[in-house]
Amino acid sequence: MIDPVQNTSKTFQADANETLDPADWSGFRQQAHRMLDDMLGYIETIRERPVWQPIPDEVRASFRSPAPRQGEALAQVHAEFMRNVLPYAQGNVHPGFMGWVNGGGTPVGMVAEMLAAGLNANLGGRDHIPVEVERQVTRWVRDIFGFPEGASGLFVTGTSMANLIAVLVARDAALGFDVRSRGVAAESRRLTAYTSNAVHSCVPKAMDIAGLGSDALRLIPCDSRYRIDLKALEKAIQADRAAGFTPFLVVGTAGTVNTGSIDDLAALADLCQREKLWFHVDGAFGALAKLAPDLAPRLNGIERADSVAFDFHKWGQAPYDAGFVLVRDGEKHREAFVSPAAYLHRAARGLAAGSPWPCDFGPDLSRGFRALKVWFTLKALGTERLGAAISRSCALARYLEGRIIATPELELMAPVELNIVCFRYRAQDATPEDSDRINEEIAVRLQESGIVAPSTTRLEGRTVLRAAFVNHRTSRAEVDALVEGAVEQGRSLQSVKTCSS
Ligand SMILES: Cc1ncc(COP(=O)(O)O)c(C=O)c1O
Repeated sequence: MIDPVQNTSKTFQADANETLDPADWSGFRQQAHRMLDDMLGYIETIRERPVWQPIPDEVRASFRSPAPRQGEALAQVHAEFMRNVLPYAQGNVHPGFMGWVNGGGTPVGMVAEMLAAGLNANLGGRDHIPVEVERQVTRWVRDIFGFPEGASGLFVTGTSMANLIAVLVARDAALGFDVRSRGVAAESRRLTAYTSNAVHSCVPKAMDIAGLGSDALRLIPCDSRYRIDLKALEKAIQADRAAGFTPFLVVGTAGTVNTGSIDDLAALADLCQREKLWFHVDGAFGALAKLAPDLAPRLNGIERADSVAFDFHKWGQAPYDAGFVLVRDGEKHREAFVSPAAYLHRAARGLAAGSPWPCDFGPDLSRGFRALKVWFTLKALGTERLGAAISRSCALARYLEGRIIATPELELMAPVELNIVCFRYRAQDATPEDSDRINEEIAVRLQESGIVAPSTTRLEGRTVLRAAFVNHRTSRAEVDALVEGAVEQGRSLQSVKTCSS
C-alpha cells in the first residue's frame, strides 16, 4: 500500500534517471539557451539565406533511419537539426516566399509557442486559465467581426477544419440535431449548398466528410472579378427547390485562393436572410483584412454571417497552426458537437468545473494551447500593427501589378483584388501547352534560385504564375526580384525553345 505521508511532493524525490527530465539541469539550461539563440538568429538573418533549396539525397536519406533505442546528447540532436532540418524548411519565414498562402510568423509567436509547450496545457476542457485565454481571444474575435455575445469560437488546425465544423453545424441546424444519432443516410431531405467555382477545395471536401456529398455543393459561376454571380446563385437555389432539394447553406469567400477576390458579402447576407439559409464565410486569409481600416469596408456583410472560418497563421502572422471558427449561435455550435461521457463529467467546483468546455464545440478532445501564441501576438503587436502589415501586403500586390503592366514580356492574368497577383510570361510563338510549360518551369526555376518562391495555378484553363503577399517581411525588393527573375527565366527558356525548334 502507498504510504500517504511518504507520498507527498515534499518527501517524494524521484530519481532523475527514472523520469525523463534532465539529470543535469544546468547543462540542459545552457543547451536550451543555445537552441533559442539559434532560432532567433535564424529569423534575424533570414534574408541572408535562400528562401528554399532542393533537399540533397543524403539529407533526405538521413531521415530513413530506424527509431533510436537509446537517446543521444541533446546537443547532438540539435546539431543534426541545424545541419539537416533548418536549411531545408519550406521558406515561408523568408521575405521571398510568395507561393500558395502562407504566413511568415513572428519571433513573438515563436517564444509564445515555447511557453505553451512548457505548460503542456490540454485545452479540451476543465477549469484552468489557458481555457480562459482561448475564451478571451474568442471575445476579441467576436468584436473584430461584430458578432454578438452569444457567439462561440474555437481554435482548430486551419480553415479546412474550421469550414468543416461550420458545414456540420449548418447541416445539423437544418436537419435537426438528432441527425447526429440518426445519421444522414436516414434523412429523406436532400440538402444542397452553394458557393462560387472559385471556392477552396476544402469546402467540397467538408461536404463529402459531412456525408452530404461534394456534388451537393453547387459551384456557381463567377463574374469577371472572380466573385460569385448573384443572379446565377438565386437561379440555382430556385431550380433546386423546384426539383425537390433542400437548400441549406451558402458559402461566401472573403479572399479566394486563386485571385484574392471577395464575394459581395452584404448581398449574400441579404439573400440568405430571404431564403432562410445558413450563411458561412470562408475568410481563410481575407477575413483578417478587417484589421486594416483601408480594407475593412470590403468585408461589409461579414458581421451578418452565421459562421466565419479564418486562420491566424496566414495574415495574423501567428506560427502554424492556428485556424479559427466563429459561430453566431453558440448554442447551435455546442449542440452539433457536445458528447456527454461519464469520464468527462462536469462539476460545479474543482478542476472539472467551467462547462461548457472547448471539446463541446468541435471534434477534438485533446487540444494544444494554440490560443497562447495568438494571445501573445495580439497583445505584443496589437491589431493596428497587424492591420498595417495586411495593408502593406495589398500595396505590394498593386506595386507588382504596376510592374507587370509596365513590362511588355509579362501579362496580368486576373484583376488584383487584394494581395494576390496572377500573371504570365508571354512566350512568343508558343502553343498554349508550351506556354503553360514555360510558365510552370519559370516558377520552379525561381524557387530553385532561392531568391523568390512564387507558385502557379490555373485560370481559364491556362497556367499562371501566382504571387500571394502574406509575409510581413516581404518588400518591394522581393517584388522587383520576382519581375526580373520571371523575365530572365522566360527569355532563357524561350531561347532554348527557339534554338531547338
Ligand atoms: C480561401 C481558402 N480557404 C481555405 C483554405 C484552407 O486553409 P488551411 O490551409 O488553413 O486549412 C485556404 C488556404 O489557403 C484558402 O485560401
